[in-house]
Amino acid sequence: MCGIIGVTGSPDSITVLLDGLARLEYRGYDSAGVALQVPSGLWIERSARGTESLSDLVAALDRAPGPCGAGIGHTRWATHGRPSEVNAHPHRDCTGTVAVVHNGIIENHFELAAELSASGHELVSDTDSEVLAHLIEASLADGKALVDAVRACVRSVRGSLAMVAVHSADPALLVAARRVSPLIVATTDRIGFVASDVPALLGRADVMYVLEDGQVAEVRPGEIRVVGADGEISVPVELKVDWDLTAAQKGGFDNFMLKEIHEQPAAVADTLMGRLSPGGTVLLDEMRIDDDELREVEKVFIVACGSSYHAGLVAKYAMEHWARMAVEIDIASEFRYRDPILDSRTLVVGVSQSGETLDTLQAIRYARRWNAKVLVVTNVVDSSMAREADGVFYTRAGPEIGVAATKTFLAQLVALETLSLYLAGLRGTLYPAEISDLLDSMQELPAKVASALGRSEEVFNLAAAYAASAEFFFIGRHVGYPVALEGALKLKEISYLHAEGYPAGELKHGPIALLEEGSIVVGIATRTRLWEKMMANVAEVRARGAVVVLVANEGDEETGSVGDATLWVPSTHPLFAPVLDVIPLQLFAYALARARGNDVDRPRNLAKTVTVE
Ligand code: G6P
Repeated sequence: MCGIIGVTGSPDSITVLLDGLARLEYRGYDSAGVALQVPSGLWIERSARGTESLSDLVAALDRAPGPCGAGIGHTRWATHGRPSEVNAHPHRDCTGTVAVVHNGIIENHFELAAELSASGHELVSDTDSEVLAHLIEASLADGKALVDAVRACVRSVRGSLAMVAVHSADPALLVAARRVSPLIVATTDRIGFVASDVPALLGRADVMYVLEDGQVAEVRPGEIRVVGADGEISVPVELKVDWDLTAAQKGGFDNFMLKEIHEQPAAVADTLMGRLSPGGTVLLDEMRIDDDELREVEKVFIVACGSSYHAGLVAKYAMEHWARMAVEIDIASEFRYRDPILDSRTLVVGVSQSGETLDTLQAIRYARRWNAKVLVVTNVVDSSMAREADGVFYTRAGPEIGVAATKTFLAQLVALETLSLYLAGLRGTLYPAEISDLLDSMQELPAKVASALGRSEEVFNLAAAYAASAEFFFIGRHVGYPVALEGALKLKEISYLHAEGYPAGELKHGPIALLEEGSIVVGIATRTRLWEKMMANVAEVRARGAVVVLVANEGDEETGSVGDATLWVPSTHPLFAPVLDVIPLQLFAYALARARGNDVDRPRNLAKTVTVE
């Protein structure tokens, strides 16, 4: 994880760095730091006060000495070494003339640190990253130029890495390198930039390029030179960026999370746009796997993490039901370690908002090694997964900054259901008229999402009534089960309250023992095929004294009369119900987190894009 930003040639480097770090904080915020080339040498400032780190830095940078040359900045999600100032980036070499920022994990850092210490280097932090500065120092002492020193450094480390280095001897130069962890470089005609991700540079750069694995870039004002691992000049891949700056700003909302929750009607509409033809066919123009290959698929594996995994769970129900394909779903970090049986008739669907989550990326790489077809559903154009997959289905939710996924989750749901209908059409498991009817219902979703959001105040009032509760259970059946998991995850992530998501029918096999008089149970009780069974499970928890809150369809007074409180949502086709049923749960978690004074955009210990295994 961690966010990296670098700039050279800007008359206002400090603003570029601070804005960039603010926009990258979704990648971690345990500490923040910058290094600037100033007339007296390399000036470094760091703070490790969690979500306050960046504001510390803003105050400190007021005192920056004199005009600046190149500058680098970093916002950290701690892996090796606790969040402290000494462990904050940028890290320095022994001479204080080299500074480095790093994202990733250096697997052989113990070994490298021991060798460096034995040859006289003094390492001061507990991080894996600090070795980079000292390895570069050693190469510079051998007479290498900074770019060659960075290349040598990359060769000697194992693991994942995106890094930027500066050296006082060449104050306008940034040297960036990438292996696995993402990094982009960008220019205007007078300025050069490096960043972990596009939002950090929206509105600043004219043209952005993605660094490929093994590439090293020399970035100077208005100029980028990229060399490959073999030292040959490479032409970097230009990024297609169609997000604008307003998408990366709060737009009048108190925080990004609420803004993004309210952007959900547009996120769903944009994801469906151009995908559904009036004749009832599904158009997937980014698909680079041909229809014959898809017809021959014998087994589908869905791999994902976090909320994307929950979207994948819904897709399993949809794909099996509509396309009659056997679907397994795996938590991405477990997938390749269980020896899954894959071949050219296997389709692996990676689901990832960022397209960079390392566990999912490694899972799809593993699948490709076994000749499986790989399709990725992601929100980030040209992300690592998008570039490595055989086919891509882009969700078009726009950039999501809040750490807890909201609009991208809804976009994933509709993308995966569209994909399921596409497969059903190809394989002839549904009649065209059935697909056409389902597509018509899908077109109604954006308006229904807006209508569910129109009930925000009701949800906020209900959450206020439960603000003192310490424990929540979320239960559902069929596609209500992934919704329950997502509702519990949202609550855990941002309110830090204990929440369990469970299949309602499984509660009686253990977790029901936890229920006490007054425990809060949120049940997904919209009218799906298993509604009656769900209501029987609700009766079981009521009988044990639980306070029951039900998500129910508007007008369904029968369900409404059962719970202590009801969260109303519009009706839709049962397999589309998760798109609507999850909305009050997002709002519920949001309200409880705010009531507890939490920073919903930057929940503790989390990061949005997790580029470590
Ligand atoms: C992190 C985020 C979650 C997200 C998960 C998967 O844990 O905090 O919100 O669902 O990563 O991310 P991805 O980008 O692969 O969807």
